[in-house]
Amino acid sequence: MCGIVAYLGNKAAEPIVINGLKRLEYRGYDSTGIAYFDDQSMHTHKTKGKVSDLEEVLAQHPKHHSTVAMGHTRWATHGVPNNVNAHPQTSNSGNLVIVHNGIIENYASLKKELQHRGFQFQSDTDTEVLVNLIEDVQQQKGIKLGKAVQVALSQVIGAYAIVVFDRRKPNELVAARLGSPLAIGLGEEEFFVASDATPFLEYTKNVIYLEEEHLAIIRRGKKIKVHKIKDDSQITPYIEELQMSLENIQKGGYDHFMLKEIFEQPKAIQDTLRGRLLSNEGVITLSSLREHDNRFLGAKRIIIVACGTSWHAGLVAEYLFEEFIRIPVEVEYASEFRYRDPILYPDDVVIAISQSGETADTIAAINIAKEKGAFVYGICNVVGSTISRITDTGCYTHAGPEIGVASTKAFTTQITVIALIGLYLGKAKGTLSRSAYQAYVTELENIPQKVERILTSQAFIETVAQSFEAAQNCIYLGRGYNFPVALEGALKLKEISYIHAEGYPAAEMKHGPIALIDKEMPVVVIATKKGHYEKVVSNIQEIKSREGRIIAIVSEGDTQVKELADYCLEIPESSEAFAPLLTTIPLQLLSYYIAVQRGCNVDQPRNLAKSVTVE
Ligand code: G6P
Repeated sequence: MCGIVAYLGNKAAEPIVINGLKRLEYRGYDSTGIAYFDDQSMHTHKTKGKVSDLEEVLAQHPKHHSTVAMGHTRWATHGVPNNVNAHPQTSNSGNLVIVHNGIIENYASLKKELQHRGFQFQSDTDTEVLVNLIEDVQQQKGIKLGKAVQVALSQVIGAYAIVVFDRRKPNELVAARLGSPLAIGLGEEEFFVASDATPFLEYTKNVIYLEEEHLAIIRRGKKIKVHKIKDDSQITPYIEELQMSLENIQKGGYDHFMLKEIFEQPKAIQDTLRGRLLSNEGVITLSSLREHDNRFLGAKRIIIVACGTSWHAGLVAEYLFEEFIRIPVEVEYASEFRYRDPILYPDDVVIAISQSGETADTIAAINIAKEKGAFVYGICNVVGSTISRITDTGCYTHAGPEIGVASTKAFTTQITVIALIGLYLGKAKGTLSRSAYQAYVTELENIPQKVERILTSQAFIETVAQSFEAAQNCIYLGRGYNFPVALEGALKLKEISYIHAEGYPAAEMKHGPIALIDKEMPVVVIATKKGHYEKVVSNIQEIKSREGRIIAIVSEGDTQVKELADYCLEIPESSEAFAPLLTTIPLQLLSYYIAVQRGCNVDQPRNLAKSVTVE
């Protein structure tokens, strides 16, 4: 939520910040702003809307060559999206400006105190409170900016990633984080600070991921200084080399990132399997599991914590782990787990699943699990993310950057990792027979080709989508392994097309949703050959008798469902366990085309953000 970009160097700062903000718009896009220092004064421009709206505002102002600037793209928490609440926020004296990602929870009491001291506030934001708190500390104690930020932050409860600038010290930026990410790019006599590394990819590969409760003082022509906020001790930051390339974050000829990412799935799954599934030798290698064999093999229970699409991947894991490893699995919304004093035993294993590795609720759930002594394993996509660092060990999905707000390749690669874990442990525990293990390994290796084959039905799915473009509601049904896929299919549709959609276990339809079915109601049914096929066919009959319109996901060559359904989308045969890797694909394409035909902004749906770093 919210994207931050700041620059201090020898180039024109504004275009760097604006381009950077465009790359971070997936984090929020309801209002935006920039502040730059030019001609001995600060200039701040803000607007409701997107970065392209800010560009229009900037075009009406004289050109400048400022080499220091900071910008922000917002996902509103405190205060509606408008020019006043947009960032950067300025202190009362006009000396300090700040951009902030996160929530200051005790902002109301801090604001009251500051008001007593004569501070006035223009906006409804917690951020304006923070910048004035820093100013108050500076004025009272007469200390340098870095120190004042540190003192102010020690009074703050909540989460933040901030960059602060003092117009009296135009060669300095101060950045700090707690709970929200910040990456610092180190170029040739130039520095970049951003919510992730994408804004500075073309300028430098050297990056410092600021650690929790660390503060960085960045000065022109000087070495960066990093301190702990708590005790002010100085630390030597670790400089990493970025593996990402510019190509990874561009649309590459596709109309939308979502479509590009749907089509990247064969490669993303392949990349996730690479070096881990050695099918010639019939071996799966996962060093993170090998090194902690005793924790996994001795586990009496696996608890999965996640949010959104990652939670759906967790549900697939529940089916797969229980079948392959014969360990009870509980799947928890991280937001619920964190607030209900969960019972954890020393031999439980907690698995956190997160694309971004930055989701606030998942991070909080991990911290609680760790406090209670649990062993925590992370499945993340973003390398170096908070979750990948705070978990005891884990496994990356290697999907590459996912920019479309609706998650696609992250989901299928999460399931790929889940399949690898299930196979590895099933073999190690002896709960999977040798022949079953071998058959699954071979099948998993062939999944990317099967996904490729499904993608060739793109044009047909686009035509099918035309019939549902005007729908107001939609039901998704699936059983067993395909129940989480039904939930994910419904989530994709509502996220990007704003059609109300609900996923249900097919048999549960009789207990309520069946009342909704009439000839207006589209029902998407996953009816693949393996996986309670006959039962699902009966459910389809029930829908048909009530005149519902049926789109079925069926196995290639199916004849029975074809006679009943209005449209059938075929997928290649697979085992029940790996079906979600295939059945998901047509549902992603269906949602995509329905949303496009309804004229929705597929990559940036209203009210959503890709990375939810607030509660
Ligand atoms: C947001 C995104 C979803 C994502 C969820 C969890 O809601 O829009 O696509 O599934 O957060 O994110 P994570 O990064 O933890 O997987």
